[in-house]
Amino acid sequence: MLNSELGASYEDKTQTSKRLFHKATKVFAGGINHNIRFFKPYPFFSKWAKGKNLCDVDDNEYTDYWMGHWSLILGHSPRTVVNALSQQLRNGTLYGTANHISLELGELIQKLMPGAENLRFSSTGSEATMYAVRLARAKSNKRVIAKIIGGWHGFNTTLMQSVNYPFNKQEGAGLVAEEEQFVESLPFNDLDSSIKILESAIDDLAGIILEPILGGAGCITPDLGYIKGLQEFAQKNDILLILDEIVTGFRLSIGGASQKYNLKPDLFTLGKIVGGGMPIGIVCGKKEVMSLADPVLIKENQARCNIGGGTYSCNPMSMAAGLATINYLNKNMDEIYQKINDLGAKARAGLAKIFKEAKIDVQVTGEGSLFLTHFLNNKVRSISNAADVAMSDLGLLHRYHLGLITLHQIFFLPLKMGAISSVHTEGDITHLLEATRLLVNSGILSSEKDS
Ligand SMILES: Cc1ncc(COP(=O)(O)O)c(C=O)c1O
Repeated sequence: MLNSELGASYEDKTQTSKRLFHKATKVFAGGINHNIRFFKPYPFFSKWAKGKNLCDVDDNEYTDYWMGHWSLILGHSPRTVVNALSQQLRNGTLYGTANHISLELGELIQKLMPGAENLRFSSTGSEATMYAVRLARAKSNKRVIAKIIGGWHGFNTTLMQSVNYPFNKQEGAGLVAEEEQFVESLPFNDLDSSIKILESAIDDLAGIILEPILGGAGCITPDLGYIKGLQEFAQKNDILLILDEIVTGFRLSIGGASQKYNLKPDLFTLGKIVGGGMPIGIVCGKKEVMSLADPVLIKENQARCNIGGGTYSCNPMSMAAGLATINYLNKNMDEIYQKINDLGAKARAGLAKIFKEAKIDVQVTGEGSLFLTHFLNNKVRSISNAADVAMSDLGLLHRYHLGLITLHQIFFLPLKMGAISSVHTEGDITHLLEATRLLVNSGILSSEKDS
């Protein structure tokens, strides 16, 4: 099957989505409400999701590995969250006042993540990373933030730099070029080069922000020495280390990457899983830093660091869904993390084996319950940073994912890593492996096909 035939087959199956997408382009810029949700030829429209399944408006039911931007560790609409939300719905959706559920969730996070001496809720991860940057600047009285090349921290303006290949151009119109001088970009997993860049900026360096696993950039795992090296540099030079755990928090372990890798960031951000399927972001960290945002404690002559919030911050629906999710994870942590990590290992090993036997050059990256297949080529022989991913054969990866969607009812958001939830089963991974083998055998994944 050629790529054009695969596209036609997708269109055949998703006629209603095709019509809706056409309408949507007249309503939304580009027909979507998050850039990465677009994929060629057009994204399908969903009508319900339950457990591990996502169903589109043409009644195609998919086993979902996108799982709401990797948020839904207990699957779609787990009973515990549905019950908590139903009850909360009757009690009010937005008080716009302090509420006790946020306190319960906050205390639970403090217990599970001791680095969260203080925390603040917001409605998105993008806000949380924006606040973390502001706090680091307020604490240090310096301006420059170092981030990782390819690192994704949401749409906040400061960190919208060196996100997309070729990484050294402005990330689109509407950003102010002068702001670039306040961000330094570091090559992931290359400690020597990163330290040189940090040293060159040291006089005005406020902090370093990084994702423990590069998620949006392509599921790239860290050399532990790299993160520890950055942490050591930060400690030695009195610079703040900010760990963006919006993907890894409650995913790699109940205590996130900090617990798994034994890291001690000054600040860290959470989102996704901790919202239990509802909007959330959290900035957490050392009291001495977070207290800069305390409107009561701040001395009169000291400017407060204004962080949010926002209208919907710690709204009781997000708090109730998050609390139900984290309570459930806490009670069942041994069983859940063992299960999803084992399934992740099975998927990575199985996929690598199938492609190796077919002599298709891939590297399956990931850790725990996260994984992504990269198609290697003459330019890229292995994956250790975002540039490697950008130069790998993304056309082939798109075809693989579209093939899974169209021919095997398995949904990965094309080009993006997959996340396993507690309701995925061994049978699902076997299905994924069989589907992959069939796609390989069909010849659809040979790099000579049209694109
Ligand atoms: C590591 C990381 N940080 C921050 C964000 C932004 O979170 P949100 O989309 O909730 O604004 C994301 C979103 O994908 C993310 O993956």
